[in-house]
Amino acid sequence: MKRLKGRFFYGAQMQQTEELCAAAKNAVREAGGIILEHWHKPRTIRFKGRIDLVTATDLAVEEFLRNALKRILPDAVFLGEETSPDASLGKWAWILDPVDGTTNFAHGLPFVATSLGLWHDGKVVAGIVNNPVMGECFWAVRGAGAWRQCGGSDAAPVRLGVTTTGSLADALVATGFPYSVAEESGDVLAWLKNSLEQCRGVRRYGAAALDLAYLAAGHYDIFYERGLKPWDTAAGWLLVEEAGGRVTAFDGRSAYAFDPLGILATNGVLHGAAAGLLAV
Ligand code: IPD
Ligand code: CA
Ligand code: CA
Repeated sequence: MKRLKGRFFYGAQMQQTEELCAAAKNAVREAGGIILEHWHKPRTIRFKGRIDLVTATDLAVEEFLRNALKRILPDAVFLGEETSPDASLGKWAWILDPVDGTTNFAHGLPFVATSLGLWHDGKVVAGIVNNPVMGECFWAVRGAGAWRQCGGSDAAPVRLGVTTTGSLADALVATGFPYSVAEESGDVLAWLKNSLEQCRGVRRYGAAALDLAYLAAGHYDIFYERGLKPWDTAAGWLLVEEAGGRVTAFDGRSAYAFDPLGILATNGVLHGAAAGLLAV
């Protein structure tokens, strides 16, 4: 009886999370319209650091979603890269990167996405990564799998699964470089050297949320990066786990907990070997 009751509550909670995810997905898709509207117009760019940009589009998308998400879950904390990066996560929180891949956006490259995670009681329970330029929307709900829709919201969703690649020699690796790369280029180059020498290839597309989504979708076998923020990884972390992959800190063993020192995400099979690439 106790187990059945527990299952009932688990089921009810998953249904609530699925409903929240569906509502948030609609809002994120609508915000994708802002990105598309701005895509062919001149960019208005400001510098947050030497190479860290913010455009008027990042701000417009964040403003739109801050309001839309407030209507969906009024009591949730809003942690947004551009307006509330230091907000503390409460029982419920939205974790938003309005435009992941801002440098790509500024240069007219299509690897850009809005990344949104829903945090509840100490974990990410839903995640959405939407690339309106390429017409790809990824999402996951904890316990209900990871999914991708290509084209509009009427297209059939396809369930995602990570690769089964078992050797570094056959593995395609994705990574990114922190904005502080000039200060830590030694480590960054050492990890890259190992990856280039031991794996099939390395890609650096410039949008960490998409890197994680592509790992979940089986395009990459390994992703690592130091210096990422919660808004870069919240949604993608869940996508990878729900697609059967593994996410940890760089040592390959410690739980990942938005640690800025590094995220290592793999298909699971290669996790130990991938951690070895980073042990320099
Ligand atoms: C950046 C991208 C990039 C990664 C950087 C991130 P932003 O996010 O995800 O791939 O290498 O570390 O900060 O600034 O475009 O939102
Ligand atoms: Ca980002
Ligand atoms: Ca961003």
